[in-house]
Amino acid sequence: GWKMEDVMEQEIKVIQRMVGPDDHVICALSGGVDSTVAATLVHQAIGDRLHCVFVDNGLLRFNEQERVMKTFKEELHLPVTCVDAKEEFLSKLKGVVDPEAKRKIIGKEFISVFDEFGQDLERKIGKRPTFLVQGTLYPDVIESCPPPGSGRNHSHTIKSHHNVGGLPKDMKLKLIEPLKLLFKDEVRELGRILNVPVGFLKRHPFPGPGLAVRVLGDVTEGNALEILREVDEIFIEAIKRAGLYDKIWQAFAVFLPIKSVGVQGDQRTHSHVVALRAVTSQDGMTADWYNFEHKFLDDVSREICNRVRGVNRVVQDITSKPPSTIEWE
Ligand code: XMP
Repeated sequence: GWKMEDVMEQEIKVIQRMVGPDDHVICALSGGVDSTVAATLVHQAIGDRLHCVFVDNGLLRFNEQERVMKTFKEELHLPVTCVDAKEEFLSKLKGVVDPEAKRKIIGKEFISVFDEFGQDLERKIGKRPTFLVQGTLYPDVIESCPPPGSGRNHSHTIKSHHNVGGLPKDMKLKLIEPLKLLFKDEVRELGRILNVPVGFLKRHPFPGPGLAVRVLGDVTEGNALEILREVDEIFIEAIKRAGLYDKIWQAFAVFLPIKSVGVQGDQRTHSHVVALRAVTSQDGMTADWYNFEHKFLDDVSREICNRVRGVNRVVQDITSKPPSTIEWE
């Protein structure tokens, strides 16, 4: 590898050269490692001409908006505006079941929120932002559009990561992607150099399209999102209690749009099935499913069925990548 201090200094110079002295920049913070490190880097380069926005798209995890905004304020000292766009996103996703269609809609909706945020800024500071910061990583680039000569034998899109192929072509904002050549572990190292709190850098990756890729099919159907949030929270809390969080690359629950028969409190039930997924990985390009102890799985499964109304069956995903991807959509 590269020396991360050099990468940092070089990136800061590149950003300063790219962004003119009067230019203003928007950065969409997701609460994840990548966008936070990207924002911190750009903040070092151009100071308060950076304007961060956190979009509540209705596809966030349990209490995520409150948690993330608190961290930004108290630990990261980044200036962030929170935009509530739940209605916009969810109404556009209503009835949409195709995974790629969902991703495209979300990418488009994000851009329209950024555009509006830009117009608000123009009214406030008299200047329209011209750049958008994205925390795109090297694996996102490879999987969305493999560069020619990269040696990879697939030339088609695996998934259009919304921060790469998913963005609309007519977007007016120019992109700044300072992490485009880095892998996740390198981004974490860069974050350490930039003094991003270590607890933050250890967070599991969370995809830009959020829970939309973890509710299979129509995300607005019934109370799928609420159920998923509760199940996911129970699973992640159990992983943390067991001291396993840092051993796992990523863990989450998936909502399946099917029902199965169960018996709960002497009653026949016809309720939802949820899946648990946990994987280890170096860079997200390949991954192995994580083998929990029986006792752990037994406890989690019981807790989920006891506490979450509408769930009577829990299954575990025991597939690696390949042949599966990490997310289900
Ligand atoms: P897959 O599911 O393609 O995921 O094996 C590999 C890694 O990338 C994350 N992921 C995304 N991250 N925007 C992101 O920022 C996206 O659209 C997106 N899709 C997947 C996924 O969570 C995993 O860590």
